[in-house]
Amino acid sequence: MIKKKGLYYPLEDFKKKALVKNKSIYKEAKKSPLKFWEKLAGDVFWRKKWSKVFKHDPPYFKWFLNGKLNFSENCLDRNIETAKNKVALIWEPEPVDERPRYFTYFDLYREVNRFANALKELGIKKGDKVGIYLPMIPEVVIAMLACTRIGAVHSVIFSAYSPQALKVRLQDTQEKLLITADGYYRAGSVIDLKKNADEGIKGTKVKKMVVVKRMGNSIKFNKRNNIWWHDLMSKQDDFCEPRVMDSEDPLFVLYTSGSTGKPKGVVHTCGGYTVQAKFTGKWIFDIKDDDIFWSMSDVGWITGHTYSIYSPLLNGASFVMFEGAPNWPEPDRWCSIIEKYGVTTFYTAPTAIRMFQKYGEDLVKKHDLSSLQILGSVGEPIDKESWLWYFKEVGNKKCPIVDTWWQTETGGILITSLPGVGPFKPSFAGLPFPGVKFDVLNSKGKPCSTEEKGDLVILPPFAPGLLRGVYKNPKRYKKTYWNQYGENTYFTSDIAYKDKNGLIRVVGRSDDMIKVAGHRLSTGEMEDFISKTLLVSECAVVGIPDEIKGEMPVVFVVPSKKLTEKKKEDLKKSVVEQIKKGIGPIAFPKEVYVVSDLPKTRSGKIMRRIMKKLFSGEELGDLSTLANPESVDELKKALK
Ligand code: WT7
Repeated sequence: MIKKKGLYYPLEDFKKKALVKNKSIYKEAKKSPLKFWEKLAGDVFWRKKWSKVFKHDPPYFKWFLNGKLNFSENCLDRNIETAKNKVALIWEPEPVDERPRYFTYFDLYREVNRFANALKELGIKKGDKVGIYLPMIPEVVIAMLACTRIGAVHSVIFSAYSPQALKVRLQDTQEKLLITADGYYRAGSVIDLKKNADEGIKGTKVKKMVVVKRMGNSIKFNKRNNIWWHDLMSKQDDFCEPRVMDSEDPLFVLYTSGSTGKPKGVVHTCGGYTVQAKFTGKWIFDIKDDDIFWSMSDVGWITGHTYSIYSPLLNGASFVMFEGAPNWPEPDRWCSIIEKYGVTTFYTAPTAIRMFQKYGEDLVKKHDLSSLQILGSVGEPIDKESWLWYFKEVGNKKCPIVDTWWQTETGGILITSLPGVGPFKPSFAGLPFPGVKFDVLNSKGKPCSTEEKGDLVILPPFAPGLLRGVYKNPKRYKKTYWNQYGENTYFTSDIAYKDKNGLIRVVGRSDDMIKVAGHRLSTGEMEDFISKTLLVSECAVVGIPDEIKGEMPVVFVVPSKKLTEKKKEDLKKSVVEQIKKGIGPIAFPKEVYVVSDLPKTRSGKIMRRIMKKLFSGEELGDLSTLANPESVDELKKALK
């Protein structure tokens, strides 16, 4: 890239070939965002065109009203007309000696049609919810698309979530069917996923389970309500008529952490999500016919939905899906994959970049990564040092780095500079996507001045892919997103500022959410689980900085009675165990402290902010509002 006054711009050569190279696109979109989005929507396949582009009924809104379409038809049928035998999905298994699996668009089309028929045979109808608890294997793509083909609403639950975390999500959506697998590999060991699934469905409405045979490990198989995927598929027809859906019908639900203990089901819809997923992917990753796209994110997260799978398909691209961890069995496995398939577009999280960096650039230099054209980052702020390392050592100073800001709720990327336009600035996400209006507000609700930090908000007409609700919980929808600055302003819960060029830098969250290795976890959900399962009178979880993971949880517990040193150690162990059980290994705490009191205000609110500051070494500020300032001294001692 070319560097001018601290900003980076794409090389002429890159720019010439880019799908979007002229910054006039921003002006055009700004003049009429609705016309702009309508133009993009024109490139999606609709069975019936919309009659009105946008309707705002705060805090609700709709896009492409009365338009009719089917999502899987856009991902598959449309591509087999022009690129039937083009490779869609390249699946790289974790074991290096196992063969990859390739699916052309036609292969995928037939598999999806068959599984759609299978779902129908199992009694699944339009609007029914289907739980998917699968690892990174091709069947997860097939299962998700098959749901969209018949108008069923999928809810994918991250396969490394614990049975307990699976259960609370299933209890909320009330699925009758769960699709899972016998097991999967994680860094060489075999995880018995079926056992977790069996445990997780207890106390839910799940009646049947379809089980993919991935590992052939020995599992408990109950013939009465378990069905093997391959048995079910062997008798299905190759074609299933796509169900024509309304633009505003739900497409999927995905759970994400919220400020309270209970996760919330974010609802995305057929029309708006499709338009946004297609075009953000196409322009931000400059997707062209001969590209090989690789997004490392697990399908259990929104990045896994939108960019590991759906956007490449909507754009008829070839994409890599990797079953394992990027540093297994060797730390440079990710480089080997880029080299093996000639990956052109690589999308990962800062936590992975920091890990790669730690292994050293010599490993990277052993590989030919010259196929790379664009690098992406997502999930948390990327620091300048990691940005520069990624830029120099991985992208050879040639690839634009799209630092993409978005959320589970936004469905697709909403802030990042476009690769053929720029400018890029290390640690800044960049400019809002054309047609989307952001602002940074101070506590009075007024726009902040340049460089002044404030709340990041989205203004009408928002974006077609922004969530339409929290599953069965309108109160929570209103309270979380439309309460702080009124019903016309979407509250992101992020703190940000703009520089003089209008580039946005997102600093972090303003709520109790923490980002562990790019994953959004709720400290409230952990606290809830600890207080429910252990004999503690109080507990608080805060996120503290971690060199690789960005943040890690630290737990403070106040036991309900005085404990001996030995019993304290036992309690610490139980806390770790309970967190693993309640959430999963991703929430593994960095440290557990057993203390006799927690800093509180006079009204009884636990001051997590103070506890956080104890770790960063920041000034603690005025402690006089605390009801029990002496508790801070105890914490200080415990931390030593
Ligand atoms: C939160 C959303 C976006 C898909 C994966 C995470 C943080 C996300 C960036 C970025 C700084 C970022 C924000 C946001 N975040 N991308 N490029 N720079 N912060 O989705 O789990 O819903 O988390 O991740 O805090 O609100 P999510």
